[in-house]
Parts: sequence; structure tokens; C-alpha cells
Amino acid sequence: MRTFRVEDLNRVMGINFECLPENYSSSFYRELFSRFPETFVVAEADGDIQGYLMCRVERGFSKLRNLSPARLLHVVSIAVREPYRRRGIAKALMFEAMRRGAATYEASECYLEVRVGNEPAVKLYERLDFTKTKRNYGYYLDGEDAWVMAAPVAKGKLQ
Ligand code: ACO
Ligand code: ZN
Repeated sequence: MRTFRVEDLNRVMGINFECLPENYSSSFYRELFSRFPETFVVAEADGDIQGYLMCRVERGFSKLRNLSPARLLHVVSIAVREPYRRRGIAKALMFEAMRRGAATYEASECYLEVRVGNEPAVKLYERLDFTKTKRNYGYYLDGEDAWVMAAPVAKGKLQ
């Protein structure tokens, strides 16, 4: 597990294409990395990157405790290459991003959107104590709904 580097961009974009229908321009990755470098994390195995997770930190309102202002760690995208799944890599990426989000950016809550039909991902987040806080109807381009899922992260700066 380590922080993303700009040289990793093609590899990470390749994994995103391979694993998800939501794809982004290289400038989108670069912008997330330049603004929130600590929570752009990659997982290496067998000498190459096999998974990534990237986030944005937002000021907003808690999705778990109504209306209280909060700094939110928004997981924009996470994927692990198929041959490397079910080994705990996504769980480790999520733990690391949440730890860094609290320590570096003082995030108190983590949230994300996930396709309602994406059972592996929904199960992963439930396993990490995320709860479904809202259903966004027709959120994806093909019309599928999203669950918004959120979980608390450790408060304040961790040492
Ligand atoms: N079926 C049921 N439960 C699952 C599955 C599955 N296929 N995959 C993960 N889980 C749950 C299990 O509880 C698992 O623990 P266990 O293996 O001890 O039972 C737990 O999640 C942790 O699993 P990991 O091994 O850490 O997950 P993995 O590294 O396989 O990655 C991921 C999971 C990221 C969802 C992977 O399947 C993937 O890349 N899918 C395609 C891309 C994708 O859907 N990304 C998420 C989109 S939403 C977003 O980006 C915000
Ligand atoms: Zn999102």
C-alpha cells in the first residue's frame, strides 16, 4: 500500500477501464491527486499495481447525524483487478484511505455512491460498517440507481 505517483497514471487508468464503466480523463485523476495526494492510494502485488482508491475531501453535512457540519472523505473510485480479488486488498485500501483522511484532512465521515446492483462492493462497504443513507434514483448514465453509503471515521488528527 503506498501513495499514488504521477508515473502510475496509465496503470491506474487501465485498471479503472478494466473494472468499471465510470471512466475519467487523465486531468481528473491529476486534479484529485494534486488536491488530495494522501488519499490517492495504490496497492501493489507481484511487482505491479493491482488496485487503487482515490478520494476528494469535501466540506458538507453529516450523512449520519443530520445537518451537523462535517468534513467528508468522498471515495470517488476504488477497484481491484479481477485476479487479485477476495484477498482483502479493497478492505486494506479503504482502511488506509480512512486513516489518512482523518489524520491528514481531519475527515470525520466517509461516504460514496455505489450501484444498487453491485453486490461485491455493497457487501464490502457493509463489512466496513457503512450504512445506506439514501437512494439516488437514476444516478448512473445507464439509469441504474446508486446507494449513498456512509461511515464514521476516527475523529480528529491521529498521530
Ligand atoms: N461477494 C460477496 N462479498 C464480497 C465480494 C463478493 N464478490 N467481494 C468483496 N466482498 C466483501 C466480503 O465481505 C469480503 O470479505 P471476505 O473475502 O473475508 O468475505 C470483504 O468485502 C472484503 O473484500 P476484499 O477482498 O477486500 O475486496 P476486493 O479486493 O475483492 O475488492 C471490489 C472489492 C473493489 C468491490 C472489487 O470487487 C472490484 O474492483 N470490483 C469492480 C469495481 C467496483 O465495483 N468498484 C466499486 C465501485 S463503487 C466506488 O468506486 C465508490
Ligand atoms: Zn461519488
